[in-house]
Amino acid sequence: MRSISFLFLTALLEFACLAGLVIYVRHLRSRSLAARKHVLLQLGYSGSGSASKNLRFVGFFHPYCNTGGGGERVLWTAIAAIQRTDPSIISVVYTGDVDATKDQIIHKVKARFDIALSPSSLHFVFLRHRTLVEDAAWPRFTLLGQSLGSMVLAWEAMCGLIPDLYIDTMGYAFTFHVVSWLGGIPVGTYTHYPTISTDMLARVRSRKRWHTNSDVISSSAVLSRGKLLYYRLFMYYYALSLRGASFIMVNSSWTKSHIDSVLQHSDPLLDTLHALTPLLALRLLAPSRAPRSAKVVYPACDTREMAKFGLGGRERVVLSIAQFRPEKDHAAQLYAFRELLKMHPSYGMKGDEEVRLVLLGGSRNDEDAARVEALRRLAKELDIQYNVEFVVNASYPSMLSWLSTASIGLSTMVDEHFGINVVEFMAAGVIPVTHASGGPLNDIVVPFNGEPTGYHATSPETFAAAMESVLTLPAAEEVKLRERARRWAVEKFSEEEFEKGWNGSGWRDWL
Ligand SMILES: *[C@@H]1O[C@H](CO)[C@@H](O)[C@H](O)[C@H]1NC(C)=O
Ligand SMILES: *[C@@H]1O[C@H](CO)[C@@H](O)[C@H](O)[C@H]1NC(C)=O
Ligand SMILES: *[C@@H]1O[C@H](CO)[C@@H](O)[C@H](O)[C@H]1NC(C)=O
Repeated sequence: MRSISFLFLTALLEFACLAGLVIYVRHLRSRSLAARKHVLLQLGYSGSGSASKNLRFVGFFHPYCNTGGGGERVLWTAIAAIQRTDPSIISVVYTGDVDATKDQIIHKVKARFDIALSPSSLHFVFLRHRTLVEDAAWPRFTLLGQSLGSMVLAWEAMCGLIPDLYIDTMGYAFTFHVVSWLGGIPVGTYTHYPTISTDMLARVRSRKRWHTNSDVISSSAVLSRGKLLYYRLFMYYYALSLRGASFIMVNSSWTKSHIDSVLQHSDPLLDTLHALTPLLALRLLAPSRAPRSAKVVYPACDTREMAKFGLGGRERVVLSIAQFRPEKDHAAQLYAFRELLKMHPSYGMKGDEEVRLVLLGGSRNDEDAARVEALRRLAKELDIQYNVEFVVNASYPSMLSWLSTASIGLSTMVDEHFGINVVEFMAAGVIPVTHASGGPLNDIVVPFNGEPTGYHATSPETFAAAMESVLTLPAAEEVKLRERARRWAVEKFSEEEFEKGWNGSGWRDWL
């Protein structure tokens, strides 16, 4: 008897919760309609004209829109393109930059990226709880904390205004369900970086030592098991969230391969568990809409300055442009260069044949400065110091000037996700010689109309051989290669290609 009344009570409670939720959602949506009218008035659309009836709102979730990094360039390029091609769309940016005004943000975008935004079809919803997604707020269980935080932030966003289409441009996949429950609208994403990857999960599983997996944990079986469970659950819900998106764009083939493997990730045990318990509701409320793979849409790179440089008469300079960070592997550049001078002692001597290696890069702190010193010592040890020059903290104009005169662009980082410096080499007409991995191999230094645009290498010997090939190219061929590299980079990473990519994602179909 008792258990029956208990069951009855829980059912009643669940029903009450559900009813409460439905009432809340209806309230939120009607409030949002009022908010939209208000925004239209603010933007200067008169009350109820037929023009404002056809207007559509597209929301961009980008809590750090005023930061001025690569992710922000993507956001503003996309919005500027929409303003140009779709006059009936109002872009709404959800951001936590409460200390900036709309005008200030628009000005900064113009100054930083030279992108002109029209204020008349742009609206900002300022979010007051951005601290919830900051690292510092979650010293432990950072991934989980930030993800839950982003859900609260998305709730705040929907309280401000519900758009007709929601696009996350910072990779907060956990917001998707909040938005589709509260707003009943389609969601899509442009993702730069996977929140968690199947590699990470595999690493914890194999109890390997890695930077997010400290020694204490990998040596203790219990902790390791707990961590594995945490990552497994997290991955399960991340995949579930991503599958709720109607379209998924990513910024590179590196990110694509990670997101695709998350989309294909399956965990039969957790699936069964969800089917057998009330957790099933979570799965049923999370319909799977996503295509089974992400679409690569390369960000536009600003190559306007570099594309103006002349291609002939380059100096015999091998140029490296990279911050003095450990993963850039500058030492490999010195070893490769020594190999080149060993093959051709005359390259090391003053005169027509002389070749110089210029390492240009920022040094952010004491560790970087110490690295530069260590590299200088290494150059001495290798006895190449008279042909090697360090340019630390160069200004932008000085970097451009090196790009306009150098012959070869060297990049030795292994598994670089992208490599904007390599795009800049090519746009400047500098022939790239890069490590055969990551973005430079898969995205950037790839054949154009079936012909090469640069060189790949893996060891000091192969790097030296590649540089030697460039230095001995017949003049006509050399200019052709420079031209080809430039055309490819400028076209492939242009705003027009970016816009085509967005068009191809089919986002308009969801409006
Ligand atoms: C994609 O985003 C990641 C993370 O911000 C970044 O490291 C990478 O360079 C980006 N790729 C491109 C093509 O901009
Ligand atoms: C380079 O810039 C950083 C920070 O901007 C500064 O701390 C450092 O001292 C500079 N180093 C040199 C060699 O100019
Ligand atoms: C993208 O689509 C819009 C609307 O159909 C169109 O006006 C624009 O020219 C397209 N852009 C590109 C680069 O194809």
